[in-house]
Amino acid sequence: MPSPTSPIEIKPLPESAPPVEGCTLIIFGGSGDLARRRLIPALYNLLLDGLLPKQYAVIGLGRKTMTDDEFRDLAREGVVKHSRQALAPETWQEFERHLFYIPGENEDAQTYRALRSRAEQIERTLQLPGNRIFYLSIPPSSFASVCEGLAQAGLAQRSATNATPYARIIVEKPVGRDLASAQEINEVTGKVFDESQIFRIDHYLGKETVQNLMVVRFANSIFEPIWNHKYIDHVQITVSEAEGVGTRASYYEEAGALRDMIQNHLLQLLCLVAMEPPYSLDPNVVRNAKMEVLRCLRPIVGKDVEQVTVRAQYAEGTAHGQAVPGYRREKGVTPNSTTETYVAVKAYVENWRWSGVPFYLRTGKALPKRASEVAVQFRDIPQILFNANPTEPQPANVLTLRIQPDEGLSLRIVSRVPGTRAQTHPVEMDFQYSDVFGRPSPEAYERLLLDVMAGDASRFMRRDAVEASWAWVTKILEGWAQQKARWLPEYPAGTWGPVEAERLIQNDGRSWRIL
Ligand code: BG6
Repeated sequence: MPSPTSPIEIKPLPESAPPVEGCTLIIFGGSGDLARRRLIPALYNLLLDGLLPKQYAVIGLGRKTMTDDEFRDLAREGVVKHSRQALAPETWQEFERHLFYIPGENEDAQTYRALRSRAEQIERTLQLPGNRIFYLSIPPSSFASVCEGLAQAGLAQRSATNATPYARIIVEKPVGRDLASAQEINEVTGKVFDESQIFRIDHYLGKETVQNLMVVRFANSIFEPIWNHKYIDHVQITVSEAEGVGTRASYYEEAGALRDMIQNHLLQLLCLVAMEPPYSLDPNVVRNAKMEVLRCLRPIVGKDVEQVTVRAQYAEGTAHGQAVPGYRREKGVTPNSTTETYVAVKAYVENWRWSGVPFYLRTGKALPKRASEVAVQFRDIPQILFNANPTEPQPANVLTLRIQPDEGLSLRIVSRVPGTRAQTHPVEMDFQYSDVFGRPSPEAYERLLLDVMAGDASRFMRRDAVEASWAWVTKILEGWAQQKARWLPEYPAGTWGPVEAERLIQNDGRSWRIL
């Protein structure tokens, strides 16, 4: 094992950079937060790493009136503040020549005519092949107008896989706010684009450790034989955020933690932990395997809603020595809001492999720190030998995949304490990406944008999966709507959630992991 000071040299595989053709990326919501903080920095990093195709153009489209130069300034600011790698003046000059902006309303047919003539002109000048990717970083209420506008202007045609030049569409979450609205969105996008042209993004699927979940499970021989109810006691999936709602109240008020995080990110993590080994890495084979898990989720209905779900909202508190206002006092939040900022759920995957194994999911804003992980806790050992003292039971083995920060993996095992007495102690076998590989992982959006350019949909959500996870979540939402007590438990900002969440797991004789 190399020491942290001597990272191992990994030679790039010749095929590690997927062959990507030149393309034009059109970002609806181009002047918005996501474009500035994540998308433009991601593209810039791809360029720095030599992964962006030689021929490319990025057209931002938004309500704001801006010139190309103003858009470039905005993009530059985003890169300076949010890029993984620092801005290099020469590369930046080269990059910004490929950035353009068109002001326009999503509902106005003129926008699409203007877009078409501008795109064609840019593509001629930069000698681009006419491949187009439309990124919908806008509220779902505008998805229909955009799809229709694109179709009417002849910017998008339904075509089967591999047609050239291609037209692809990236759909940002939220894909709906319940099952019915998700189906509606899928209908609308499906009228204009073939399923193979639609990339529903869940940026957690682009995170390094999340991708490593499949590798850990299926590239090692020691885990798969014990990856089932006979050896695993339970699984905990935590996505903890230190930040409060910030500037996103108008969106978050309509969403809440269940729709914002559980419906997509946490359920996707659960699928990767619970799925059967796919027979190949073909995108649809992998997505079929994940889909099976969603089909097996036990619906949470009736009395179960109260017993296995907890929702709560952060109240005034302190985080890192700073006073944090309660959620209802945040800018843009209604003073009597019942939007949940914390959710804990106990879920079951009802199949042979996972029979009786609870999956505890929890996520929240304004918690003590940013920390996300998947922890697989194995069963206790028998109460003999080193575990003979019932008042001091040996801690169980836990395999933890840290998603962020400090991406890595650790395995807790019990070891003998050196010395003359027969003493034992739990120790961690730990692997950190940054120590071993000596370089930071690309951001999720870098990988995912490249996937779309390469036409690889494995890390994107298929229509049936989006609808299956909404079906499960919608039952919880309906249960909550029927609850008589309309009050919401609270937790002071900067703490690990409400006491009800502690009870949820303690009632089963278990406890949340300390992060
Ligand atoms: C987004 C949610 O999908 O994920 C946000 O809408 C949340 O509310 C964010 O803060 C968390 O992403 P990350 O990559 O910072 O863990």
